[in-house]
Amino acid sequence: MPYEVQGVIARGKGEPVTLETVHVPDPGPGEAVVNVQACGVCHTDLHYREGGINDDFPFLLGHEAAGVVEAVGPGVTDVAPGDYVILNWRAVCGQCRACLRGRPWYCFNTHNAAQKMTLADGTVLSPALGIGAFAEKTLVAAGQCTKVNPDAKAAVAGLLGCGVMAGLGAAINTGGVTRGDSVAVIGCGGVGNAAVLGAHLAGAGTVIAVDVDDRKLAWARDFGATHTVNSRETDAVEAIRELTGGHGADVVIDAVGRPETYEQAFYARDLAGTVVLVGVPTPEMRIDLPLLDVFGRGGSLKSSWYGDCLPSRDFPMLIDLYLQGRLNLDGFVSETIGLNQVEEAFDKMHRGEVLRSVVVL
Ligand SMILES: NC(=O)c1ccc[n+]([C@@H]2O[C@H](COP(=O)([O-])OP(=O)(O)OC[C@H]3O[C@@H](n4cnc5c(N)ncnc54)[C@H](O)[C@@H]3O)[C@@H](O)[C@H]2O)c1
Ligand SMILES: [Zn+2]
Ligand SMILES: [Zn+2]
Repeated sequence: MPYEVQGVIARGKGEPVTLETVHVPDPGPGEAVVNVQACGVCHTDLHYREGGINDDFPFLLGHEAAGVVEAVGPGVTDVAPGDYVILNWRAVCGQCRACLRGRPWYCFNTHNAAQKMTLADGTVLSPALGIGAFAEKTLVAAGQCTKVNPDAKAAVAGLLGCGVMAGLGAAINTGGVTRGDSVAVIGCGGVGNAAVLGAHLAGAGTVIAVDVDDRKLAWARDFGATHTVNSRETDAVEAIRELTGGHGADVVIDAVGRPETYEQAFYARDLAGTVVLVGVPTPEMRIDLPLLDVFGRGGSLKSSWYGDCLPSRDFPMLIDLYLQGRLNLDGFVSETIGLNQVEEAFDKMHRGEVLRSVVVL
């Protein structure tokens, strides 16, 4: 029997979100319905609401979630009802050119549910990142469910489904941070502070957190930042160079995604260093850099989609580290809220009061 549940909908650009009845079909072949237990509020949800991702309104928001599988469709063998899972937006296909070359974390044809969830009047919903988990239940491709140790509570585990994984992975996967590296992270929201934590986990010697908000910088210290820079008061590039013997950092991670922060990342990096762009720019943004500097400074300019993670490899491993007390994921949960408080959570995010508000169902 299909399900009728409550879900958080963005109907139009910039309009406040509404709580509405969502029709969730029974899972078809290769699909699963998941009882969502918790879902974090990510800046990407706000990007959707503001029309910054695409115009496919109405959106069913929410995509950083954990829960328990309710039902699976025909042919699903990897997960079963009752399994505790984190939802991922990288259900790898195994057949695209990236997968076939043994690089599934770049998969160019990731799976989502084939059926559509709808509003009560039949209007088709676009689930954020193919997930749509600000809802009591959601329909996904079975490959979007990654089993993890159920001892980790959902409010924490779900965060690995997007922002925290993106930040951790920007440092440890894309940036390749290793012991003794110097690392700077620009923008220390949930994603940036996860990059700080990732750099700390990988053994970076110097971890410089940069933000325009002192509250974020105080949290960055908790996650392992050795230095903090308020770039509203101090020039970020000069400060990072000063803290790295005048050279710049080996890896600079831009977790804001604006032309000015990208330019800071570009010039705050040592010769032959790495820039990782993990913040998501909007379509009108442009960057203008002297091509000679791009050449002359060497190294690599990379983007990090979802922290170049492979959910089946990374989620269980990171949850195990968390359960061993080696990964401070609790620090990201600033507050737990109800489904009807997502709009307020966007305001709090905007005012910089939280790393993550997490909807708990
Ligand atoms: N690449 C991916 O796979 C991926 C995944 C999730 C989120 N994201 C993106 O990462 C970005 C950050 O997400 P979040 O959830 O951490 O957002 P957030 O709003 O919680 O954090 C953004 C932080 O940047 C700071 N900031 C803003 N302007 C700045 C500036 N000019 N200089 C320094 N700091 C500045 C803010 O004070 C805030 O602390 C967003 O663009 C989001 O869409 C990317
Ligand atoms: Zn693929
Ligand atoms: Zn996200």
